[in-house]
Amino acid sequence: YRRQVVLGIETSCDDTGAAVVADSGEVLGEALHNQQSVHLRHGGIIPPVAQRLHEQNIEQVVNEALEKAGMTVRDLDAIAATVKPGLSLSLSVGTRYGKNLAVSGKKPFIPIHHMEAHALTVRMVHKAEFPFLVLLASGGHSLLVIAHSLDHWSIIGQTIDDAPGEALDQGARRLKLRNIPECASMSGGQAIEYLATGGNPRAYEFPTPMGKYKDCTFSFSGLKHTLTRLIERLEEEYEVEGGNIIPPIQDVCASFQYAVTKHLVRQTQRAMVYLDVRDLLPSQNKTLVVSGGVACNQYIRAALQKLCDTTGYQLLCPPPKLCTDNGIMIAWNGMERWLAKAGVLHDEEDIAAVDFQA
Ligand code: KG4
Ligand code: ZN
Repeated sequence: YRRQVVLGIETSCDDTGAAVVADSGEVLGEALHNQQSVHLRHGGIIPPVAQRLHEQNIEQVVNEALEKAGMTVRDLDAIAATVKPGLSLSLSVGTRYGKNLAVSGKKPFIPIHHMEAHALTVRMVHKAEFPFLVLLASGGHSLLVIAHSLDHWSIIGQTIDDAPGEALDQGARRLKLRNIPECASMSGGQAIEYLATGGNPRAYEFPTPMGKYKDCTFSFSGLKHTLTRLIERLEEEYEVEGGNIIPPIQDVCASFQYAVTKHLVRQTQRAMVYLDVRDLLPSQNKTLVVSGGVACNQYIRAALQKLCDTTGYQLLCPPPKLCTDNGIMIAWNGMERWLAKAGVLHDEEDIAAVDFQA
């Protein structure tokens, strides 16, 4: 037996990440450069800015991950990089860097789908056997997926507008949470979770998204608009101006978080009913995997745990650190594909032909 090691590279959005992972799931070295503070100043991600920051940092991040693992490219079995989906300009940096590293180091290259990586991360730390149900909730995605096997996924629910993290981020911006010192360096979702702990989730009511439909489709823009109108009403009521915060901020955050949670739970419950009716998961071993940045939220996790307790599912989430974008999940997805010999490119021309995809 010889230990296998894979390097993973992630640049699909605003995190430059790299990691070296072993087949046991052990993280041998990792590095992450987060652009959040720059983007917060702009009030959102500007793709060319993100691209430039990836370009400035990628070499350092990859070298740091390798150094921490005590390795050079020569010690690797394969190199994996996120090639889709994400921001084109961001994806282009990691894709190119990974391909070049593979070709120059004469190593196999493994193109990675970012959402597949989110869904598989949990298998580094927990025993999640195919098939299982996955809820992916992040800044860019809101998906219910059946993971049948490494190469067979069926999407059973998607968003028709915003992703939950996007709604939380925009809500936080609209609530000016950046002006609260404790929240200044937090992501929108984190800031709302932090403030919601002291608030009443029933203080303000939000309409049920997709109320008339019976499927697992998500929609978060209605919640966002209700929040905007609520903020306008409260700003007037409390005569709040400029960068000041409305007084019932904790109740507003708690109510908004409750509404987002309820929608996620409701659609996930529908997915479970659908799977049961179709008998799509083994009845003895039903698993819900939850991942993506929004899965860091302990309130949302607790609500999903309650759902799983009543439906007989086991809930598996990666540790919060592995829920948000990072190089580890890409390296692990690469490892799964390397061990399964699925989607591994050995030929220099095949590697050169790989392109990123928004
Ligand atoms: O997975 P991720 O790092 O990037 C995407 O692929 O989108 O997710 C980032 C998203 C952001 O929208 C952020 O607000 C949200 O995850 N997020 C949270 C929490 N931490 C991060 N949302 C709710 N509660 C949290 N604690
Ligand atoms: Zn992500």
